[in-house]
Amino acid sequence: MHEENRQDMNQEKKVGIIGLGKYLPDNVMTNKDLENMVDTTDEWITQRTGIKERRIAGTDEATSDMALAAAESALKNAKLKATDLDLIIIATITPDMFFPSTACIVQQRLGVEKIPAFDINVACSGFIYGIAIAYQFIKTGSCKHVLVVGAEKMSSVTDWTDRSTCVLMGDGAGAAVLGEVKEGGILSVYLGADGSKGDLLKMPAGGSRMPASIKSVEGKLHYLKMEGNELFRHAVRIMADAALKATEPLGLKGDDIDLVIPHQANIRILNAVAKRMGIDPEKKLYLNIKKYGNMSAASSAVALAEAVEEGRIKKGNVILLDAFGAGLTWGAIVIKW
Ligand code: ACO
Repeated sequence: MHEENRQDMNQEKKVGIIGLGKYLPDNVMTNKDLENMVDTTDEWITQRTGIKERRIAGTDEATSDMALAAAESALKNAKLKATDLDLIIIATITPDMFFPSTACIVQQRLGVEKIPAFDINVACSGFIYGIAIAYQFIKTGSCKHVLVVGAEKMSSVTDWTDRSTCVLMGDGAGAAVLGEVKEGGILSVYLGADGSKGDLLKMPAGGSRMPASIKSVEGKLHYLKMEGNELFRHAVRIMADAALKATEPLGLKGDDIDLVIPHQANIRILNAVAKRMGIDPEKKLYLNIKKYGNMSAASSAVALAEAVEEGRIKKGNVILLDAFGAGLTWGAIVIKW
């Protein structure tokens, strides 16, 4: 993987993000609202996670609806039409249904025909994996423009009686259009996974191992189950290590990175990662977890879109996307803007 990356870095064609978009449902659920639902407090949630509020999609709103809205705004931002796309990738662990894929639903609703479209199931690292795949397709000349969307309706797999998980999640979507760029672009890509720790974060039922049954519903097995403490420990190590693996081949140190766009899982995880990377979190860590909580694959996509919108990323800046999630999976990407 690293050797390939190094080779890629020497090749001519530059691939970058040419448009970004996002969609957040209107409905805001605050920590105060959660105080009325489970035994928790605004103080506990704020101190332990950094989250103040999150968006919750409507009952009639599915992941494809949010993905479509984010995709349309990214296409507009890229000044492209849907028919200019050659491939659609949707990163989600909360698809509309098992099949057809959410990407095929979005393809149809964008009004484009025939181009390949598929979902990837990589949890919180999904947007980074999606960008990595798009990068390869463009680099090899197979595609000119690729749409990558991170979209999640985490509220649909959340047990609203479990205080250890329900305070963490939110719904939303972020999208990027990738294409060839004249300057800068993606400088390095690092991906990884460790299936031996899959039990730390999973939704046990609904698949072929345990199809839906009265017993599975009564046992609340269609909800996200998480061993938060264990995950926390791995997350800090994994994210700091991924950052190093993506920056080291380029000879970059913490100081050379202008802004880190991390997966927004927990503010304490992110501050610990910043410390390990030797960067000042106040200046170089982009955070929006306070407003949205953890939106899984949508988190880094929305964070990147907002960082650009707010002028935190300027032309020529070197940014690092860094994420980890269920699987376990992880990834980091360095981009020169
Ligand atoms: N309100 C009040 N008390 C709570 C709550 C709550 N919402 N949740 C748990 N507690 C209690 C616990 O019961 C425990 O009480 P006890 O000491 O009496 O047993 C106490 O608070 C401490 O619990 P911990 O689990 O040790 O709390 P911790 O500081 O570890 O924070 C948290 C928990 C926020 C879940 C943290 O472990 C975390 O963020 N882990 C990582 C989560 C993550 O990153 N997930 C992966 C990405 S998600 C994806 O891929 C889809």
